[in-house]
Parts: sequence; structure tokens; C-alpha cells
Amino acid sequence: MKKSFILILLLLGNLIFSQIKPYPIIPQPISINENEGYFSLNPQTKIVFKDLNLQNDVMWLNSNFFKNYGYMLQLVNVTPLNGNYISFEKPDWEAGYKENYHLNITEKNISIMAEADGSGFFYGMQTLIQLLIPEKTKTTRLPARQEKQAAFTVPCLLIKDYPRYQWRGMHLDVCRHFFPIDFIKKYLDLMAMYKFNVFHWHLTEDQGWRIEIKKYSALAQIGGWRKGSMIGAAKEKKFDTLRYGGYYTQEEIKDVIAYANQRHITIVPEIEMPGHSVAAISAYPFLSCSGKQIPVEKSWGVFNDVYCPKEFTFKFLEDVLTEVIQLFPGKYIHIGGDECPKDSWKKCASCQALIKKENLKDENGLQSYFIKRIETFVNSKGKQIIGWDEILDGGLAPNVAVMSWRGTDGGVAAAKQKHFVVMSPGKPCYFDHYQSKDKKNEPLAIGGFNPLDSVYNYNPTPKTLNAEEQKYIMGAQGNVWTEYITSEKQVEYMAVPRMCALAEVLWTPPEKKNFNNFIERLKQQLPTFDRLKINYAKHFLKVK
Ligand code: ACM
Ligand code: ZN
Repeated sequence: MKKSFILILLLLGNLIFSQIKPYPIIPQPISINENEGYFSLNPQTKIVFKDLNLQNDVMWLNSNFFKNYGYMLQLVNVTPLNGNYISFEKPDWEAGYKENYHLNITEKNISIMAEADGSGFFYGMQTLIQLLIPEKTKTTRLPARQEKQAAFTVPCLLIKDYPRYQWRGMHLDVCRHFFPIDFIKKYLDLMAMYKFNVFHWHLTEDQGWRIEIKKYSALAQIGGWRKGSMIGAAKEKKFDTLRYGGYYTQEEIKDVIAYANQRHITIVPEIEMPGHSVAAISAYPFLSCSGKQIPVEKSWGVFNDVYCPKEFTFKFLEDVLTEVIQLFPGKYIHIGGDECPKDSWKKCASCQALIKKENLKDENGLQSYFIKRIETFVNSKGKQIIGWDEILDGGLAPNVAVMSWRGTDGGVAAAKQKHFVVMSPGKPCYFDHYQSKDKKNEPLAIGGFNPLDSVYNYNPTPKTLNAEEQKYIMGAQGNVWTEYITSEKQVEYMAVPRMCALAEVLWTPPEKKNFNNFIERLKQQLPTFDRLKINYAKHFLKVK
């Protein structure tokens, strides 16, 4: 009696285990149905595609995935009779679900169903690629050439999938430390793999201006370079004396935009104002209240030299934004708005006269006036602005979206005022914070503590909002500020795997999430991390 009871328990346990078998897919799809058998994918497998809109996606699959294994799949527009093909199919749902996809893997073929003008095919391909673990990892005895031309056995599954949020963002600060175009592309590849769709490119700062502006060439030529950098912890106040900097030409930026576009990622450029503008002022001192010549900043922090809201400044910013808007095709321009000390405005006759003239309450009112003027200009060009939550101070501009970083209160307040919101609270969305308490073995970081599980368990939609207000939460974003992140390897270390956890927060409904199951799937990413030479943080390997 006792024995058979244990046997039944064991059998039940086995059944449950097999049902929650983790496939190596991150973020976890909405639904997975398991079927018997496997599809055998090999260099003879064909891609059937009948809609020219899909060219980009199909070419991406060949040149970014199969090419690594020494072949490209043949493209055909007639369905092969003998099976063994991947086909791209029209959806059987009503139009408008542009990120949805179905991926159906049977023994004869694989089909991906999605809307041709959306991102669904691309996401279906990402899911498929995650399921393609090359056979060579199973046996090491294949001859070298065969090993390179890997074949894959793919389990028969029917996956139906779509995201929870529309804004699935990752940010990178290229100002405190500069990262070349090739690395930006690697970052975009990593984002694409986990179905992120917004890259927030933080392009201007006190410590460096990183985007070529043709009308004001000194921004990059002078503002792009500093005469040294803070080294070690800020409290030590130590500096090196090395000239440091760099910037992206507009041609390079166009190249990155095209690269992102092919990966269904929109780039949101950030042009900071009115604070964090020392680099611009170093190039054009007229932009500040004092007009004094200052160098590009070497320390990390918040600085009193900020844009003076006068006609010269607005003309300059409108010219800069005109070039930025011409370059970037996305809907949003990020205008910063954070950490703007008001000391120089308080002492400035022009600023005080403007407060009087416009009947503003105080310097916060002046900041609000500043952002509203910029919004009017950006809206007139058909674009929207988004800014850090300080833009709530003194009153929100009419159409602005808010990125909540000082916790979530700013995001909640904005959503209650019917403004769109991206949640990016320091805890847990700042990936420049520590991920382990064992600080002795971690690279020096800015502070804080955002371990992997805290990111995984984050819910961007605050319960304090009612159903109507919750609709204003567009999503969330992981931020990688680089005061203490000096190399590409270190960016990867801080971002991976926390961005994988965030990907699941942004895609998967909360009731389908499970941290232990996520860790199992994360371990299955290791061959991919190795193939792409990603310097991931390894703490999760110790999670039981
Ligand atoms: C910020 O971290 N200052 C937006
Ligand atoms: Zn002023």
C-alpha cells in the first residue's frame, strides 16, 4: 500500500515535471503546446516566403544566424512537396496585432505566422533560434567541417505569443564612457535576442557630447573631449590626465539606426536639457547664465552650469533638435530634464526677468516653461518628447511622456494626469548598481543593490493605479550609466543576465513567470552567450 502510494507520487511528479519542462526560451512565451517528435533542420532546409515585406527578416535569419554555421538556407517562393522548410505565413487573426506571432514546429515543417508589416516574424525567428541548439554540443566526434555545418533537431511545439508591454527598453550612457559603433551593434543584437524594442541612447552629458551636429561642429569637436577622468570611487577625488572622448558622425548614426531597424528596435536619442549640459557649454559658453568659459567635466555628479533659458539657447536647441529629428525616425525624443540645479538661474538677471515676464512662480516654473517651449517645438515637427520625472516639477508640458527613475511616484503621478509613462526606477532598473553583496569580488560600481531576482520580480504596473490609469504605463527600461563602467566587457557584465530578467518582466504575464524556471532557461543560454562572446555575470549559476 505504502509502496504503491510512493510510486504514484513519483509518477505524478514526473508528469508535472515533464509538463513544466523548461525550453530554452527567454522571455517565456504566453503559451506552448508540446507535440510528439522533432523537426530536423539542416543546410538543405528551405525558407518559403511569398511577401517581399519579409525580405529584411528572412535575410537577417540567414546572415545573422545560419551563416555562423557555414551556410545560408535557400529562399524559395513555392512550397516544397517533400517538406523540410520554414515558411512565413499570413496571420489568421484580425489585423493590428503587430507584435504577435505563432510558431508551429511539426516533423515536416516550421511555420511562423505574423503580420508582414509588424515585428511578429522577427520575434518568431528569435524564439526559433533559441530552440536551435546545434547538434555538435551533443557529440564532439563529428569531423570539423560537418561540425561547422551544424544541423539542429527542434522539438515539435506550437507557440502562441505576444508581449505584455509596448515599451521594452534598454538604455546606454555613452558619455561618461564612450563605446564604439561595433559595440552599440552588439548591444542591439543582445536586445533583439530578448525581444527588446527600444534603445535609449544617452548622447549628451557634462562629461561629453557624442553626436555630430553639423551647424554646431564644436559640440563634438570640443564638447566631445575631456582632459582627464575621475578614477576610482568618487569620494577619493582622484583623476587621470588622459584626453578622453569620441563622438558618432551622423553617417555612423544612420548606420546604427538602419541596424536597429532591421532588428525591430526604435532608437530614442537623449539630448539632455536644461541640466547635464557642461560639455555643450564648454563648446558654446553663451549657453550658460554666466557665459564663462568652462572645461568639459572630469568628475561624475551634478553641476551648476546649466543652459540659461534665453533666446540664444532656445535657437541653439531648436537647431540641434532639428538635426536630431531629421536623423532619428522614431516618435520620441528624450530631452532629459533631470537633476537641474537652479543656483545659476537664481543669480541670473535674464532668468529672473523671464520669471517675472511669464508670471512664473519660481525656478521650477522656469524649468516647466523651458520644457514646454521645447515640447511645442518638437511637437511642431511631428514628434513627442519624453523626459525624466523631474519634468513634473512646476507642471507637466501638455503632451510629454515621463520616465520615472526616482522610484515610481513620478510615474504614478504622471499616469494619474493621463500622461504616458516608462518605469525605470533606480531599484531595480539601474543595472549600474551592484548585483551581488560580495563587493570585494565585484567591479567598483556606483552603489545600490539590484540582484537578478529583484529585477525578475519587478512589476512595472503599480497596484495604486486603477485600470484606466494603468493603461498609461507603456513599459519599463533597464539603465546602464557608465561612470564606473569603463569597458565593453563591463557593460556586458552589468547588463547580462539582468536584462534577460527584465525581458521576461516586459513580455510575460506575471502569472506565467517563475524565477526557478527562469534560472533553468538562463543556464540554457550559455552556448549562445559563448557563441556571441558575451561577458555575462555568473552569479545565477549558483542559484539552486
Ligand atoms: C538619472 O539617473 N539622473 C536619470
Ligand atoms: Zn540665466
